[in-house]
Amino acid sequence: MSLPKTSSGAEKCAAQRVATLAEAEEVSAFLLQPNLFGTPLTPGEQEEFKTHPAAAIGCADDGYWFVRNEGGSICAALGVRMNVERTGIFEVSALAIQSSCRSQGLGRRLLELALGFVAASKGRGLLFETSSDPSYAPMHKLLATLGFKQVGRFPDFYYPGEDTLWYYRAIES
Ligand SMILES: CC(C)(COP(=O)(O)OP(=O)(O)OC[C@H]1O[C@@H](n2cnc3c(N)ncnc32)[C@H](O)[C@@H]1OP(=O)(O)O)[C@@H](O)C(=O)NCCC(=O)NCCS
Repeated sequence: MSLPKTSSGAEKCAAQRVATLAEAEEVSAFLLQPNLFGTPLTPGEQEEFKTHPAAAIGCADDGYWFVRNEGGSICAALGVRMNVERTGIFEVSALAIQSSCRSQGLGRRLLELALGFVAASKGRGLLFETSSDPSYAPMHKLLATLGFKQVGRFPDFYYPGEDTLWYYRAIES
């Protein structure tokens, strides 16, 4: 399904920030749908996707954004939060595009939106935690394209045989 035609800025991908409980519930349902990600969600991810979109409403440092397709259904979602230390490093808590809407530049534009949000929040940088599973190769490539460097790897972090990779991009001041 094609995406609505849009202009620039946050509107570049027609992304809306979650502002109501109904929107938060839609985003949670989108992120929790089966097979959106290449590997099974961990129990922690399930909990986070269930609760964090609603918890982030009205929070200056944490937020969720979503994009609707022409039929009005959510076809992409992004979550960003400040680190638990609350010291200006932000993390992407979720990024996923519906499979029928991939390879149209939406993932790139949402990640650019995340970087813009961190810069506007005077953050020092953006951390992206992802999986070593080969199904995440598009994500690894997208991160490299936007100047993220792999800064760490934790073996078997998600599940035995599935490592976590940390990618980071500093925000130029
Ligand atoms: C990873 C993902 C977010 C990319 O979103 P997308 O909208 O398809 O990506 P874009 O169209 O913006 O492409 C941006 C770049 O990503 C990379 N990319 C996207 N799809 C790719 C593919 N199938 N193979 C290799 N690289 C790919 C490329 O570098 C591409 O740039 P290019 O078009 O100049 O080559 C999307 O594939 C997705 O939602 N995957 C499932 C969920 C997921 O893995 N999320 C990451 C959680 S850690």
